[in-house]
Order: sequence, then structure tokens, then C-alpha cells
Amino acid sequence: MSELLERLQSRLESLPDGLQAHIYRVRDVALELAVPHKINLQQAELGALAHDVCRAVSGEDLIRMASELGVSVSDVEYDFPLMLHGPVGAEVLRKEEDCSDEILCEAVRWHSTAHASLHPLGKLVFLADKLDPQKAAVYSYQAKLHDMAMESLDMALLEFLSREMGKRVEGGGTIHPASVDARNSLILSLKN
Ligand SMILES: [Fe+2]
Repeated sequence: MSELLERLQSRLESLPDGLQAHIYRVRDVALELAVPHKINLQQAELGALAHDVCRAVSGEDLIRMASELGVSVSDVEYDFPLMLHGPVGAEVLRKEEDCSDEILCEAVRWHSTAHASLHPLGKLVFLADKLDPQKAAVYSYQAKLHDMAMESLDMALLEFLSREMGKRVEGGGTIHPASVDARNSLILSLKN
């Protein structure tokens, strides 16, 4: 077992039970998605186990930690600081867990908003998080999203971003700029 995996697993023990259960369900989905896309299984497992390492931190503490860890905070994040649990989690992994796998850290960083630069691992972690079976009530189209994700991570990510951004626009909410960029970049790359 890799050292990082061992350290992560013991770190997860301090998280609330419900969050731990979510993380392990996401791990199972991540391993399932990794097979058809030929993504390294250990990286998929680490990404899933690491993604919510800061999900139980309060908004106020996330803003404080962001400034201590040198994570820049945009206006939309100040408005909804829980969005920072990915970027702050990525820095915690780099600095406290000596994670030198940039692709893994970036997957954690962008797992709430997505990003135009995401590697397949980041797309997989993003989607596995949304495909936690317990989130079926939140995402009514989850079964279809799961089938799409087994076929094409890009198509599934585009489907998710389009639907969820549409809901936010209709509800008068903000859209994180990284999500807009990610969606644009998927549309352009799928066109070619
Ligand atoms: Fe999650």
C-alpha cells in the first residue's frame, strides 16, 4: 500500500461518519469508471479518498486556511466559501501530506467546479463524486450520467455542467468562472 494511501486512510478516520461513507462510495464509483478509461486504479482510489479531505471545515475556517496556504479567493468563493474545500484540500495534501502528484492534487482542487485543464483523472474524480448513489435525489438524471461516464468522461462532464449551470442561471445564482471555462473547452474539443 502506498504511504500516501495509508496516511489518507488514517486522516479520513477523523472525518464525520456520513462524510467518510460518502468518500468510500465515491471510491467505489471511481474504481468502476477507471476501468473503461484505462486510468491507473491506485490514482483513481487516491483521488476519490482525498477529494473531500476539507469538506467538513467551516466556511470561515476555509477562508482563513486559504489565506494561510496561499490559495487565492475570488468573489464567488467569498460569497460561498464552502466552494473552497477543493482548493484548500489540494494545498493541505501538498503541504501536510507531501503529495507530489500534481495531477492528483489538481483533481482534488477542481472537483467542485471542474476546470479547463483537468486531466482524465480529474474528470473521473469530479464525476465519481456526483455519481455517489446517495446523490440520486439531487441529480435526477444520475443513471443516464453514469452510463455516459462509462462511455466518455468528456460527454458526461459536459452534460453535468450544462444541466447544473442551467439550474443556477435559472435560480439567479452565480457561476464559478472555472466552470464556464471548463464547459467552453469541452464543447470546443468535442467539436473537433
Ligand atoms: Fe464529495
